[in-house]
Amino acid sequence: MSDVIGVCGAGAMGSGIAQVCARGNFEVRLYDVDRETVTRAVEQIGQRLRRDVEKGRLDDADARSMLARITPTEDLDALSDAMLVIEAVIESMPVKQDVMARLEARCPPETILASNTSTLSVTEIGSVLEDPGRCIGLHFFNPAHRMRLVEVVPGYDTRDDVVQRLIELSTSLGLTPVRVNESPGGIVSRLQLLVRNEAARMVAEGVATPEDIDKAMKLGSGWPLGPFELIDLVGLDVHVVNSDSLSDELGSERYRPHALLRKMYRAGHHGRKSGRGFYTYEDGGNA
Ligand SMILES: NC(=O)c1ccc[n+]([C@@H]2O[C@H](COP(=O)([O-])OP(=O)(O)OC[C@H]3O[C@@H](n4cnc5c(N)ncnc54)[C@H](O)[C@@H]3O)[C@@H](O)[C@H]2O)c1
Repeated sequence: MSDVIGVCGAGAMGSGIAQVCARGNFEVRLYDVDRETVTRAVEQIGQRLRRDVEKGRLDDADARSMLARITPTEDLDALSDAMLVIEAVIESMPVKQDVMARLEARCPPETILASNTSTLSVTEIGSVLEDPGRCIGLHFFNPAHRMRLVEVVPGYDTRDDVVQRLIELSTSLGLTPVRVNESPGGIVSRLQLLVRNEAARMVAEGVATPEDIDKAMKLGSGWPLGPFELIDLVGLDVHVVNSDSLSDELGSERYRPHALLRKMYRAGHHGRKSGRGFYTYEDGGNA
């Protein structure tokens, strides 16, 4: 088995996942269709590592070798010797299926093809593969370079040995895996989306400001971040798409994003990544 992990999609999640894999001593191939995105992702990882060094959380030599283990690429063939590929492209079934099929054509049969999807069906993603047994969900949390939880989500056809190998691999990356049988939104997103949408409804109804709701949930419920800080971190675009998707999948209008969220999304106020959401950001959102 190689010590190579491929990460497909170098956006908010892909860049954090690449950092986690490099921290776990794996060689990482970070792929995106967009050249600028891959370059920016590696720069952001470098900035985060330098900040860790400055704060005394990381040795300078370790930071340098971690960064050196990440190879940015726009060529999917570069992932062909990976033992695990983690797909973190946009939340679109046709795009994910296309990426997975192209990966299957390039990687050996034992390579695990994992999807970081938040709301889509892993079974459906894997259904386009000749061997759907190798396809599985591996759901990271934002920011991926800080959060230790991963949901390991077997689809209908995922083989047990793939589940076991992925649980072991996640543990070796310093993560804490929980197994969640496929169900829309898994554990965390299913509960979180409901609360975030309700919080937006409360703002729209004039019950309280985003600042006060965040303060209340942090001090009254012990949350590390309030619901609006979380929406800004996840991205209004991702939040709206995920809520709609969960609503459709669960057949429940409870998950529909409030009109306020849709308006902000259409206005391009996507949170940290765009510099403005419920709050404004001057640091480019590189938390
Ligand atoms: N943002 C979150 O909080 C969060 C948390 C957990 C899981 N997820 C899931 O992770 C995935 C990525 O989310 P994100 O927030 O990083 O999105 P993002 O928009 O920041 O990044 C997506 C990346 O995919 C790239 N891409 C698009 N089509 C591609 C293709 N065919 N091949 C390769 N790359 C392609 C885009 O260029 C972009 O860089 C989604 O499935 C999302 O649901 C997101």
